[in-house]
Amino acid sequence: MILPIVAYGNPVLRTKCEDINRDYPGLDKLIADMWETMYASNGVGLAAPQINKAIRLFVVDSAQMFEASEDTAEEFDDAPGIKEVFINPQILQLNGEEWDYEEGCLSIPKIREDVSRPELVTIKYFNENFEEKTVTYSGLSARIIQHEYDHIEGKLFIDYLKPLKRKLLKSKLDDITKGKVRVDYKMSFPK
Ligand code: NI
Repeated sequence: MILPIVAYGNPVLRTKCEDINRDYPGLDKLIADMWETMYASNGVGLAAPQINKAIRLFVVDSAQMFEASEDTAEEFDDAPGIKEVFINPQILQLNGEEWDYEEGCLSIPKIREDVSRPELVTIKYFNENFEEKTVTYSGLSARIIQHEYDHIEGKLFIDYLKPLKRKLLKSKLDDITKGKVRVDYKMSFPK
């Protein structure tokens, strides 16, 4: 089932999300719905608060970016990418040089800006079978994981922008909150 994606301005996007238990009601269905919703909106990652659930859960598919273009493997070192579910994740370490990449967010449509993030993320989490994993990710996978992890901490990529840039975006952000934006996927607007 495709779920509406919560737009910028909804307080759930500013909530520090809570861990879940393995008996969380309807977890398998929720994860399946998150994949379906992410693919329907051409996303590469989706976090639970974006579908209005303040829980520590996100999904990432960087593999589709490598499948889409052979150039991706030349540019990024994490080929063939990952398709992974992250439950109750904790970032243990951020390492490597910071690099810029133009990010966007399904909750903040039509805005893309360069964000600087460290190259490597070491993260402990449970997968969809509640198997515990600790993995160091690099490249595009590390980039998307850090973006989605921010979501479950109530943080958004625009928080990294310089105050002037943020100010220049204010009216666009206000429009998104009011639903005055054209998107080709299902969204729910706060006002
Ligand atoms: Ni996002």
